[in-house]
Amino acid sequence: MQVAARLENIGQSVIREMTRLALAHGAINLSQGYADFPAPAEIKEAAIQAILADQNQYAITWGVPELRRAIAAKMARLYNLHFDPEVHVTVTCGVTEAITVSLMAMLNPGDEIIIVEPFHENFYPAARFAGAIPVMYTLEPPDYRLDPDRLKRLFSPHTRAILINTPHNPTGRVFNREELAGVASLCQEFDAVAVTDEIYEFITYDGHEHIPLATLPGMAERTVTIGGMSKTFAVTGWRLGYVCAPEPLANAIRAVHDFTTICAATPLQYAAAAALNLPDSYYSDLRQAYTQRRDLMMSILWDCGFQAKAPEGAYYVMADFTGLSATRGLPENPTEFAMWMTKEVGVAVVPGHSFYRTAGFGENAVRFAFPKKLETLAEAGARMHRGINQDTSRRLEGISTKGSIK
Ligand SMILES: Cc1ncc(COP(=O)(O)O)c(C=O)c1O
Repeated sequence: MQVAARLENIGQSVIREMTRLALAHGAINLSQGYADFPAPAEIKEAAIQAILADQNQYAITWGVPELRRAIAAKMARLYNLHFDPEVHVTVTCGVTEAITVSLMAMLNPGDEIIIVEPFHENFYPAARFAGAIPVMYTLEPPDYRLDPDRLKRLFSPHTRAILINTPHNPTGRVFNREELAGVASLCQEFDAVAVTDEIYEFITYDGHEHIPLATLPGMAERTVTIGGMSKTFAVTGWRLGYVCAPEPLANAIRAVHDFTTICAATPLQYAAAAALNLPDSYYSDLRQAYTQRRDLMMSILWDCGFQAKAPEGAYYVMADFTGLSATRGLPENPTEFAMWMTKEVGVAVVPGHSFYRTAGFGENAVRFAFPKKLETLAEAGARMHRGINQDTSRRLEGISTKGSIK
C-alpha cells in the first residue's frame, strides 16, 4: 500500500521510543521532557471547576476569549508586544500543533525554510508536511552559537522562513541580542518570516534573559511567536499552546487549525487562563526550583565523568560521553550508549544525533532532561555512579546492539 511521499525519511519519534524503553526496563526517564512533580493546585482546581461548570463543548476555534485575552495581556506586560486577541492570537493543541499549522499556513511546496538544528523533533516533519524544503543551520558544539555569516550562506531567494527555538532544546542556549539581531537583519534582507518556539521562555538561569525575536526592531510584523503551557505549568498532557501572528498569517493559521483540530480542550483552556493569572512569584519560584534541578543534574554529570556545559535555559543537557567510552570501555555509539544507560544503568536518555539531520553531529552526546523531583535526580545519579563504576567486563555483558532504535 502507498505511503505518502512526504513521509519519506520521517520515522517515529526517538524520544517517545526511549520513553517506551524506559517503562519496559524500569528506568528513570530522563529522556522525554516532562515533569514528575505535580502541576500547581490552583490550575488543577480551575480545570475541575470548568468541567463541573459544563464548559465541555467545542470552544471558539481560535481559543476561549479569556485565554486569548490572558495571552495578549502577558505578551504586552512582559515584552511590550501588542496583539489583538480577536485577530492575532490562536490557541492550539500544544506548541507541536502550533508549529505545524503555522508552517502549513505560510509555506508552499518548494519554498525553503531554515531550521536551526539540533532541533525539537517535530520541526523537520512540520516543514515536510507543508511541502517545504528544510535547510539546516547546524549549531556547533561546544558553544552552539548562531553565526550570522554562516546563516547568511543558507538564505536564498527561495527562503520564506526561519524556525528558531529559544531558550533552546536540547543545547540549553538562550540566544543573545547580538545573535538574534543577526537573524532579524537576514529576515529583513531576504523578506523572510521568523517562526519562534518560545516554550521555555520562563526557564532561564544565571540572569540569562529570554528575548522574543518579535521585540527586535522591524520584527513584530514578520515574526510568528509561539508559546505554550506544557513546560511552564508542568501540564504536557493538557496539550495547550498558542500562536501570536501578524495578519494575514494569523487568519491563515486559524483556518488550518480549525480544519485540523477545531479547538484545544475547552475546560483546560479556562484553567490555562487561570494559570496565566498566577502572581509573579510563581515564575520566580519556578526559576529557583529549576536552578536547583539544573545544579544537581550538572554535579551528577560532572562527577560521573561526562563533559557538559551548564544550560543557560530550558531543562536539558547535551552531555559528551566519549571520555567514558575511552576510559571505561563503554559503548562509543550514541544509540548504544543510550541503550546501555536505559537497560543496564536504569536511566533513560536520548542519543544526541537524533536531534540533527546533518550526519556527523551529536555522535558524542546523549541528552538528559531534568524536569524532575530532586529525589528522582538523586536516584538517577546513584544509579549512574553504580553503573559507570562497575567492573568493565560485567558491565559490558548482555548489552545488545540489536535493539537499536535507529
Ligand atoms: C522546543 C520544544 N517545542 C515544542 C515542544 C512540544 O510542546 P507541546 O507539548 O506544547 O506540544 C517541546 C517539548 O519537548 C520542545 O522542547
